[in-house]
Amino acid sequence: QRGGPVTHVFRGTFIHSTPETALQVLEDALLGVDTAGKISFIGKGENLLELSQKFGFNPSDVNQLAQHEFFMPGMIDTHIHASQYSYAGTALDMPLLQWLNTYTFPVESHFKDLEFAKKVYTQVVKRTLRNGTTTACYFATIHTDASLLLGQIANDFGQRALVGKVCMDRNNSVKHYRETVQESVDETHRFIKELLNKKYPLVKPVVTPRFAPSCTEALLEQLGTIAKNNNLHIQSHISENIDELKLVKELFPDSETYTDIYHKFNLLTDKTIMAHGCHLSDKELTVFRETGTSLSHCPNSNVSLCSGILDARNVLNHKVKLGLGTDVAGGYSSSILDAVRRTLDASKVLTIQNPQHQTLTFEEVFRLATLGGSQALSLDDQIGNFEIGKDFDALRVNVAARGGPIDLVQCKEPKVVDHLTSYSLFPPICPLKGDDRNIVEVFVAGRKVVPCEDLALE
Ligand code: GUN
Ligand code: ZN
Repeated sequence: QRGGPVTHVFRGTFIHSTPETALQVLEDALLGVDTAGKISFIGKGENLLELSQKFGFNPSDVNQLAQHEFFMPGMIDTHIHASQYSYAGTALDMPLLQWLNTYTFPVESHFKDLEFAKKVYTQVVKRTLRNGTTTACYFATIHTDASLLLGQIANDFGQRALVGKVCMDRNNSVKHYRETVQESVDETHRFIKELLNKKYPLVKPVVTPRFAPSCTEALLEQLGTIAKNNNLHIQSHISENIDELKLVKELFPDSETYTDIYHKFNLLTDKTIMAHGCHLSDKELTVFRETGTSLSHCPNSNVSLCSGILDARNVLNHKVKLGLGTDVAGGYSSSILDAVRRTLDASKVLTIQNPQHQTLTFEEVFRLATLGGSQALSLDDQIGNFEIGKDFDALRVNVAARGGPIDLVQCKEPKVVDHLTSYSLFPPICPLKGDDRNIVEVFVAGRKVVPCEDLALE
């Protein structure tokens, strides 16, 4: 026993990934959660008596899943702009750089207003939790107090979160939405200090240079130092769009590649997550692997902004850590299930273009949404699957709920097909139809956060 007495025991089907197996189905399993919200055991249903004696729970207290239900690990959004939730689903009619200048910077500048920030940040945390995102890696805005508020809201609603106060000292289009190097550095220090002082158990600060074109070398250098001195996560964007690459060449003529810019300032570490990377070369991917830097694949955004298509297979072949991101609001959906679908679509488009391309399987993409995300955020010692000792971050899925069979039923593994055929309520293979209505309960660190009366979602 690890974290004290067992407080919940569930019995039924558990589906998760391991580093060796993209999708593992544990039928009639028993899983115990302790007072600290950690998984204290996972065993076979037939061993109920023995497990109940060993872990000191009453067999009659076991929470039995229905036949058409299963548990999967909570999904991980490795890249989402909480501030852009305010206009998600609109304004996707121009490419990245124009889109930033026309919509994004003007909207983000409003987060100086804490009332407005509170409204949007409450909505995005509630909505993503409802969609099954148990961990989110957020960009806020340049405003420290509003960024702290996002941390507080994630904590209050029980979501695990990395929260970044955005840093940018270059912006020629919306001149009031930028900082001086000194302001950005001082406010980043204040953000880190105040967020850590709150001692929120599930929320961490992440050093967030917006992307190279928004930052001078002086700022990038200081942010690299801050992250290093405080052993913090880092997030940014890289190689999303061709015009962005041209701009980067103009602004940083001395750097050979986009990757070199971040590398030079110690911003590529095993706690760094870079969004997009659609146009990275193999040589750059090698630097990612060597430094332990991960990529966030955001296919909805990449297509919505006509940025490019990441070859996720090539990223995996380079052994670069890879997770999925919604990139709200370049992406118009706040659901990682949507990112699962788009990842499959993007991979299929690459196969259409080149029949030699090895299309990602559903099982592999399921892993990206869960275990892959935890690896990308360097949190895989804590979350990502149902290993003993990890936190119980989990979704109780009802495949027969209103939304129709959830994506997860698109599975070719014979055992899973057998398993699914045993359900009488839906056809065994009816892919890509599920949504948040199939997610009936969401747990983060053993605490049920959906449904939750405070959330008042519907
Ligand atoms: N690059 C720099 N900032 C942004 C942003 O807000 N969204 C996206 N998609 N790319 C960016
Ligand atoms: Zn982004």
